[in-house]
Amino acid sequence: MAFPENRPRRLRANPLIRAMVRETHLRTENLIHPMFVTDGQGVRNPVSSMPEVFQLSIDEALKEVEEVAGLAIPMVNLFGVPGKKDLTGEIGCAEDGLIPRAIRAIKKAFPQVLVMTDVCLCDWLTHGHCGLVRGDVVLNDETLDVLSRMAVAHARAGVDMVSPSDMMDGRIGAIRSALDHAGFGHTPIMAYSAKFASGFYGPFREAAQSTPQFGDRSGYQMDPANGREALKEVLLDVAESADIVMVKPALAYLDIIWRVRREVNIPVAAYNVSGEYAMLWAAHQNGWMDLDRTMMESLTAIKRAGADMILTYFARRAARLLNQR
Ligand code: PBG
Repeated sequence: MAFPENRPRRLRANPLIRAMVRETHLRTENLIHPMFVTDGQGVRNPVSSMPEVFQLSIDEALKEVEEVAGLAIPMVNLFGVPGKKDLTGEIGCAEDGLIPRAIRAIKKAFPQVLVMTDVCLCDWLTHGHCGLVRGDVVLNDETLDVLSRMAVAHARAGVDMVSPSDMMDGRIGAIRSALDHAGFGHTPIMAYSAKFASGFYGPFREAAQSTPQFGDRSGYQMDPANGREALKEVLLDVAESADIVMVKPALAYLDIIWRVRREVNIPVAAYNVSGEYAMLWAAHQNGWMDLDRTMMESLTAIKRAGADMILTYFARRAARLLNQR
């Protein structure tokens, strides 16, 4: 039946009917709050391209986790911004290192908040690549051992979930087996499965001080042109026992989220990355777009595309709005 019998506007007439027919509901439980943890005491360095995002020492990070807990956001994700880096990544594997100390402090003070950690070498290596380097080659298999030991160090500190973001081949299987052998068979892995070599990571690299000193990440992160290959990556990670698969970035890759959602029967996460955050803020600060509105629209679109959960620097802002409703 067509117009005039069919009038879609009937179901848009008022807020009550619109709420009744709403298909997608963003909820606080869907949000993961990323944080940048650094050495020292009382450190709270603003990230210039990301308003309201800071590099935080552990004591300051605890204050932010308290806010996260108050908003009922279930999980934080920790990135390390260490004062010292080297060429081996061993600083990131130390059992009493920055991230293990942060995990212990957060779990002790806020046991109700889940802690996930980034497992990758770029924050810990002087040259900023995600794996060990020989000449100008980013080594794959040699990197797996370091990543595995990093994951185990986090598990020993009590992490609730690890999240490898390096894009080395075979890392999910390697980390799974290392965790299992160390007695952490219950620790889940969220795999950055379809992670694209994206310009939208620009502000993150300022926040994490992880810009590659030579070359770029196209030798391990995916070509933005490739959709079928994203499914291949996802299925490999599922076969290697990933518990959750992730698509990253989110907004320019909604089709990938949708295709992945149809392909797998495990939860799908999406990373609403730093550049997506910075764009909306910049437009807002110029008076060009309304921040809360474009934020909720973006997050809802990511969920509508098929993401079960969203890593987003907007987590607190969105949770405040959701909790008010
Ligand atoms: C590095 C990593 C990156 C992000 C998460 N982990 C940056 C990169 O690959 O260069 C980006 C997150 C963001 O932009 O918000 N392993």
